[in-house]
Amino acid sequence: MAKRVNTVHTVEDLREIVADWRAEGHLVGLVATMGALHEGHTSLIGIALEHASRVIVSIFVNPTQFAPNEDFAAYPRDTAGDNLKVAKSGAHLIYAPNNEQMYASDFSTQIFVGGVSDGLCGAARPHFFSGVATVVAKLFLQAMPDITVFGEKDYQQLLVVKRMVRDLDLPIEIVHGPIVRESDGLALSSRNAYLSEAERAVAPLLNRVISDIASDVGEGRAVAESLEAGRVRLDSTGFLVDYLELRGAENLAPITDIAERPARVFVAAHLGSTRLIDNVAINPSTEQRRT
Ligand code: PAF
Repeated sequence: MAKRVNTVHTVEDLREIVADWRAEGHLVGLVATMGALHEGHTSLIGIALEHASRVIVSIFVNPTQFAPNEDFAAYPRDTAGDNLKVAKSGAHLIYAPNNEQMYASDFSTQIFVGGVSDGLCGAARPHFFSGVATVVAKLFLQAMPDITVFGEKDYQQLLVVKRMVRDLDLPIEIVHGPIVRESDGLALSSRNAYLSEAERAVAPLLNRVISDIASDVGEGRAVAESLEAGRVRLDSTGFLVDYLELRGAENLAPITDIAERPARVFVAAHLGSTRLIDNVAINPSTEQRRT
């Protein structure tokens, strides 16, 4: 049986443990999560363990990245399951602050990361990336990790965090975690739990459509025509497309010529009441996975 992993709830307790680890010469890694852990998260923990000798998993459902009409209250929470998964993953500590610990009643600081936050999810969820950047900055300053791993599933979030770390000179290395998929291609997400049986059967089409666009464009088909064909497939299968776009993989700038620089196809679409996102690289071998 996997060894139980300790959970701390306060910055003081977290810092005490991290200070001891540092005194022992350990490199510290952090994987930031909102819990309801799945294999996507445990793969990020696995990557963190390749880079650091002590790994913290933070679990905090961050209210400031949800708009009032979004699923903060319904977001899946599974403390017992998360504890087991972290124990099995080999990580060393869970940091699970409560809301009061993270946000004083008169909390009034927000981090806005320009550029990479614009468009895609930033257009549909204008509050989202400042909520993410602010909480991630806090987690970084609380834990002061040497490295952190962010998944490519939330690719725009990954770039927002990278830009923030670069702009604020935070001494943290960011490692990319590749997307983990079900065998039918559906990207793992805590929100997949919301899908009905019928929606779950249709959901893998999202990945098939963007993979087809990536290979068509890679073989020279016009970008606009390819995206339009993909949109028609999604529309006709019951998805409500939020965006379906080709963007530069390094800074999310709109891109029409894939010879210019590495590019990815990005999609967000609603299936019933569930919003799914996914992305695929057009030319993965040209992308940089560490900063
Ligand atoms: O990707 C997530 O789970 C969240 O956005 C994060 C990075 C933990 C911040 O709350």
